[in-house]
Amino acid sequence: MKPEKDVFVCTNERPSGHPRGSCVQNGSIEVLQTFRDLQGEKNLFNFKVVATGCLEPCLAGPTVVVYPDNVWYGGVTVDDVERIIDEHLVRGRPVEFLILDEEDFERSQRGPKEAPPSCL
Ligand code: FES
Repeated sequence: MKPEKDVFVCTNERPSGHPRGSCVQNGSIEVLQTFRDLQGEKNLFNFKVVATGCLEPCLAGPTVVVYPDNVWYGGVTVDDVERIIDEHLVRGRPVEFLILDEEDFERSQRGPKEAPPSCL
């Protein structure tokens, strides 16, 4: 069955103390694994969970993006994953309180003053 949606989970990791931090430091590996575990438990095939590099809004991570919906979630914890699956990926209703806004992107792009310009 061809997936209808892709769920991208940032698994970028930076060295400890890096001013931009990283999603791995904020628990994204556990978030990724929880998506995969629950997808299997619920026997869902309509979406594909994909580990990615940095998606940009690092300071608001862990970052999760659902395409083709173009819905960007931030600060996602393992406790949020089942809600994203049940409400968004099954019922088609994004989880509003987790959605990143423009300020989250701008803050991460400005970053801490000492942050390097790239998102490497
Ligand atoms: S490190 Fe995850 S969005 Fe940049």
